[in-house]
Amino acid sequence: MTDEAITARAREIAERETKALLDRTPASARLYDRAARVMPFGVASSFQANDPYPIYIREGKGSGVWDVDGNEYVDFHGGFGTMAVGHAHPKVVKAIERAARTGTHFAATTETTVALAEELCRRFRLDQVRFTNSGTEATMEAIRLARGATARDVVLKIEGSYHGHHDAVMFSVVPGADAMGGRETPASTPLSKGIPADAVKNTMVAPFNDVGALAGVLEERGQDIACLIMEPIMMNVGIVLPQPGYLERVKEACAQHGVVLIFDEVKSGATVAPGGAAERFGVQPDLSCFAKATGGGAALGAFGGRGDLMDQITKGVAHMGTFNGNPLSAAAGLAALTEVLTPDAYEYLGKLGTVLAEGCQRAIDDSGIPARAVALGCKGAVSYRREPLTNYRDFLECNVALYEASWPWLLNRGVFMTPGDEEQWTISVQHSEADINLYIAAFTEFCQALVA
Ligand SMILES: Cc1ncc(COP(=O)(O)O)c(C=O)c1O
Repeated sequence: MTDEAITARAREIAERETKALLDRTPASARLYDRAARVMPFGVASSFQANDPYPIYIREGKGSGVWDVDGNEYVDFHGGFGTMAVGHAHPKVVKAIERAARTGTHFAATTETTVALAEELCRRFRLDQVRFTNSGTEATMEAIRLARGATARDVVLKIEGSYHGHHDAVMFSVVPGADAMGGRETPASTPLSKGIPADAVKNTMVAPFNDVGALAGVLEERGQDIACLIMEPIMMNVGIVLPQPGYLERVKEACAQHGVVLIFDEVKSGATVAPGGAAERFGVQPDLSCFAKATGGGAALGAFGGRGDLMDQITKGVAHMGTFNGNPLSAAAGLAALTEVLTPDAYEYLGKLGTVLAEGCQRAIDDSGIPARAVALGCKGAVSYRREPLTNYRDFLECNVALYEASWPWLLNRGVFMTPGDEEQWTISVQHSEADINLYIAAFTEFCQALVA
């Protein structure tokens, strides 16, 4: 079957499955009517929006979630990659309950927060760490630290990477083909209205997996560039792996120009290995940012790294926040990292992830649809393109129609997935092999339907 015929079939499937999904979710439709009166798009964050309305969740337990209509799903959305511990994990619940009983907030540092800082330093090989409430704040603070340490203003980021919603990094996150600029010298394109026009001069963009292009930018503007902030594995365009040697050479190039290398491990941190991508790929950056799975489901972020850089906080670089290191979040994070996400847990997650990706790849190969499955620890994705992705521009070549058909298809068969083709699955320690097989069965039927 030709790719055109598969695409046409995908469009029919998307229409039919979307209608079936809407028929099964009238309570979500009603809640949307209520929610949209008091919140734009009817959601708390624009990433949660969906057309014509989002699926509203009632509760979660273990690997499962239930929507407000009572439909049950196995959760592969994982709160955008946060819930590696699974829902309501007894050890995390116990830690939060204890914290709730003994005081939820002091804005004075508690021993739990100190213990969590120690655990983060141990796991991620940081000299020092500081807390935030989100990944956005973590990247914002790491950038300020780099700017303070270098007395330079320019931030260099990778095309197609998302690092949160502060102005400095809201450039070239999902630029359209007409606004991308050249392949080796991408334009800085704002993602949002409301970013000062002037901000563009302080954010430059380079392509992923291209040391030559990076070296060119650094040669030309290195003396102005405070930091390169990057995801060591791109995880907001499916999954794009760093090519062998790439991260090592990036580190060398940054060091050569006195540019602080920041790894944004908000997604990869506690998911792809106990010590995140830095451990998995054996490259230690100057600073790292964490959030999502690191907090075990609570609102927790952190940034840390080289002692001389972190020490800038004692020498004039400001870092504040009423809720930083909040005892509830710290308790959840500490329980998650020390009691749940143990070395055995990573082995289990890695095994399930491999089974899932191999199962999906088998279905892809048998049907011949243009797609590829990738797994990395508890994270994984199917990208609708035959060749592996190496950068953002490859991602733009993915077949969106196939993704748009897959999303309602999977939901209608009990697989809760993220809205958006840039996302990926997250498996938790509470997922079972049966959960993984449910996903594989639903996806296999999808592939067969595309070529039927
Ligand atoms: C790589 C990366 N960095 C930073 C962020 C921002 O984190 P938060 O949503 O907690 O502000 C995200 C969120 O998806 C992310 O994927």
